[in-house]
Amino acid sequence: MSTTSDQPVTGGTHVFPRGLQLPAAVSANGATVTTADGRRILNGSGGAIANSVGHGRREVADAIAAQAVSVDYVHATQFTTTALEDYASALVAHVPIDDARVFPVSGGSEANETALKLARTYHLARGEDRHVIAARAGAYHGNTRGVLDASDRAQLRAGYEPWIGHTVRVPSANRYRDHRSGVELAAETERILQEVGIHKVAAFIAEPIGGATLAGAQPPDDYWPAIQRLCNANGIVLILDEVMTGFGRTGRWFAADHWGLRPDIITAGKSASSGYWPLGLCLSSGVIADAVGGAGNFAHGFTWSHHPMGAAAAHEVLRILERESLIERAERSGARVAARLNAGLDQHPAVGDIRGLGLLRAVEFVADRTGRTPFDRAERVTERIVEAAFERGLTVYPSTSCVDGSVGDAVLLGPPFSSTDGELEAMVDILIDAISATLR
Ligand SMILES: Cc1ncc(COP(=O)(O)O)c(C=O)c1O
Repeated sequence: MSTTSDQPVTGGTHVFPRGLQLPAAVSANGATVTTADGRRILNGSGGAIANSVGHGRREVADAIAAQAVSVDYVHATQFTTTALEDYASALVAHVPIDDARVFPVSGGSEANETALKLARTYHLARGEDRHVIAARAGAYHGNTRGVLDASDRAQLRAGYEPWIGHTVRVPSANRYRDHRSGVELAAETERILQEVGIHKVAAFIAEPIGGATLAGAQPPDDYWPAIQRLCNANGIVLILDEVMTGFGRTGRWFAADHWGLRPDIITAGKSASSGYWPLGLCLSSGVIADAVGGAGNFAHGFTWSHHPMGAAAAHEVLRILERESLIERAERSGARVAARLNAGLDQHPAVGDIRGLGLLRAVEFVADRTGRTPFDRAERVTERIVEAAFERGLTVYPSTSCVDGSVGDAVLLGPPFSSTDGELEAMVDILIDAISATLR
């Protein structure tokens, strides 16, 4: 059977699916996705926490169309483009990295692959054979074979163990489940790195706050400054994976700004293009880029890296973020969402923690609040809440491993920053209703 965009997918699909019985989306506008059978779904998850400026922006479509008829594509080893040069110049003003350089790719996993290889190449260029990558427990850095090793989610790693296992695992920073101070966590991190030989450590990669695995888990306030000091003192490249948090999601251009951090590399994706183009970004310091020597010495790149259409789309998204002050809005809206979640769920016996920053908000569920005991995964608490929310007209993002990378239940809200107050209130109310109906 063939399908067209305005028909429901009823069977016979030739797509390798990522879900069962998926409804067909036929239009998307603002914070709402409409399905072929006429349902209007509020995009509380922003897809995979990726939508910043909202669906259906004519100006982004126009920018992509204009770029397609001027220079659609050229290969980055043969040409640069005005679209990319202009975007990079506009972007670096917001990046908390000294003399930042932009390496655009096609997604977050590719951005992290690029960052890890760049860190290794940087050390080699300086005559240091550093190769160890340190990443945290419960990290998520992507799903391609290289960064899967840095990611620490059991269900994604299962079966691929023979290919992975080189990453050195250091503690996560999760105020809800670990009461150590940031200084203590950094000291434990240092102890582990000393054990493997800290002079061999090329890079420390981490999400500023928990993302897809640890569901918005927040570090103690003194954690990041202590980690920055540790990396600086030992010549370790600090890579902040801001694929989920970057471009305003947490109410700052980058989550690094909450702690005044100056990492060596930031990776980004998701909100940078808001989904209008599959874009990832590896943003490195000028020191690293200059040491590597630019073209030729970094044997890395893809057919679609440095794509002018991606730059045109992302530049328009950047202009919208600036023009409509959407990052300030994400901070204000996030506070309102947090207050409403707290008011509705604070006393719920199965709600262990409500957390997050800006418009990255999460609710963690526990079988017992006092002991913070997770539910048995066989109960599929997260999946049932996600389904109940969807039935009520809301997408939320699941986390089924927020305790330690293998167990735990949480859902995340990560709606477009442009969502109206009314839409955000409706999202929170639907989520509370879905939780109450699932966990009576
Ligand atoms: C923090 C983080 N890093 C990397 C990735 C991987 O990005 P992508 O799915 O675009 O490859 C994700 C995706 O969820 C992410 O949240």
